[in-house]
Amino acid sequence: MCGIIGILGKHEVAPLLVESLKRLEYRGYDSAGIATVNAGQLDRRRAVGKLVNLSDLLVHQPLAGRAGIGHTRWATHGAATTGNAHPHRSGPVAVVHNGIIENFRDLRAELAEAGITPETETDSETVALLTRMFMERGMGPHNAAVAALHKLEGAFALLWLFEGQDDLMIAARKGSPLAIGHGMGEMFVGSDAIALSPFTDRITYLAEGDYAFVTRAGVEIFDADGVQASRETTRIDLSATQVEKGGYKHFMAKEIAEQPVVLGDALRHYLKADHINLPEELDFSNIERLTLVACGTAFYACSVAKYWFESLAGLPCEIDVASEFRYREPPLPKNSFALFVSQSGETADTLAALRYCKGKVAHTVAVVNVPTSSIAREADLALPILAGIEVGVASTKAFSCQLLALAVMALKAGRDRGHLSAAQAAAHMDTLRALPGLMNAALATSDEIARLAAQLAEAQDILFLGRGAMYPLALEGALKLKEISYIHAEGYASGELKHGPIALIDRTVPVIVMAPHDRLFDKTVSNMQEVMARHGKVLLVTDAKGATTAAEGTWAHLRMPEVAEPFAPILYALPAQLLAYHTAIAKGTDVDQPRNLAKSVTVE
Ligand code: AGP
Repeated sequence: MCGIIGILGKHEVAPLLVESLKRLEYRGYDSAGIATVNAGQLDRRRAVGKLVNLSDLLVHQPLAGRAGIGHTRWATHGAATTGNAHPHRSGPVAVVHNGIIENFRDLRAELAEAGITPETETDSETVALLTRMFMERGMGPHNAAVAALHKLEGAFALLWLFEGQDDLMIAARKGSPLAIGHGMGEMFVGSDAIALSPFTDRITYLAEGDYAFVTRAGVEIFDADGVQASRETTRIDLSATQVEKGGYKHFMAKEIAEQPVVLGDALRHYLKADHINLPEELDFSNIERLTLVACGTAFYACSVAKYWFESLAGLPCEIDVASEFRYREPPLPKNSFALFVSQSGETADTLAALRYCKGKVAHTVAVVNVPTSSIAREADLALPILAGIEVGVASTKAFSCQLLALAVMALKAGRDRGHLSAAQAAAHMDTLRALPGLMNAALATSDEIARLAAQLAEAQDILFLGRGAMYPLALEGALKLKEISYIHAEGYASGELKHGPIALIDRTVPVIVMAPHDRLFDKTVSNMQEVMARHGKVLLVTDAKGATTAAEGTWAHLRMPEVAEPFAPILYALPAQLLAYHTAIAKGTDVDQPRNLAKSVTVE
């Protein structure tokens, strides 16, 4: 997952390219680079590491020109070095790429026969080499780029720039998103609307397989068969693309703090005074099964939702991570729905799983934070989670908003299937409506959590335990912690501990128990005491009743507000997020852009 940008401008583009790349750094930040055409000359600057290193380089080695492309990289093939940084260049051709060219080794063999050898370890360079080869065979830029394109297998969003051509960019999209931005006498191409929003609000998304010739006068789009195509141009809500920290030290802190507000927005959207606001096609009355597929945090949201659909609606659910689901090729009942949960709406594995399900089930349903994303556009139905832009690589407000959307669906399923009375559903809706206020109380424990985090930061291993719908939350808490603090953390069903993992317990291992005082609480307390009997350091995250009952003997405990079952996971997500955030701060890691990660995983 990388970010790409291209500008055919009226002014010097280097600073504009860097500004756009800052908005794309969430897609990867191993290295960055730009290339421009100035007075016909093609040139480039690249730097390893964060984008600020490229900015520094450009101060000392500026790059002129009003036509240019840029790239911020998350390494797939080839280490994060300057030599492997994009744009890749071969003779008169420069290319930036997001995705994976799966047949690049075969293509290298073909290039070698033509006497062309790669200079980098990357798959992306192959595109520049092929294009150059076709130009040396007499093709012009357009035909050479299309000829190279037709030899590629895999997933890609590509942007070409050519020596001597300061009014031409060629763009292509297969599997990775790419958008065209329409300016006044200027044109833009970028990975998403966020990248283009500093320049324009008029966006055209390329369809799967499209390629496009872009000049300042406009764009010609061609479909996968080379037939000229017309794609819809929409106006984006620029306010929805604003990415500012708003006074917070980190985007993650801002996004954790925003949860009461954005959850309130989502509640108002989905829970009307007298009905649940979902598409009428989502009639759960007679379907026999629900399939839920996602990756990472979104998968843990699906895992929580499984408990809700089964207990509130009596609806059997199958859940799986997308990277496994898509290759299992599971049989799917036609009389079923398949849900795909994704913050970015661009996760390659989730998109592939959606494509596997299309036509096999009654409806495919996207539950996404980006309504214009590939998953949203390819699903039969798309439900927005309304979390607002989430920049921090560690997903926080998107998780709680995903849970809310899934909870609302579970309530509707319960009503459709006669599993919930109107009164029961109304009571559950009141519980959901109370959550924003309860979240504010949960956020008030942040300073207390920061004090505990100073000790957690010294641990080598940390366990999270939970039962019932809190078990997936334990998994999510472990993921949050490990991905931004780099401490090894695992989540377990608390009943599973005695079947092996308890061997890990000693005085050095903090065990974080996520346990509201619900019907399973006593069982969890028993597991907790098994840990304490072996000198494990227990941090109990519970409510007042739970603390009174079981806090004695623990290392520490956190009190959350009371929340009626079964929606505690939405509230308890906040202490899990704060524990991760403050532990990462104590460790001094990069909270918003943790090592090795990117926000949107648009490659397999
Ligand atoms: C979550 O904190 C991680 N950044 C990661 O697991 C993420 O949830 C996963 O990559 C799925 O992303 P998506 O929701 O955009 O599909």
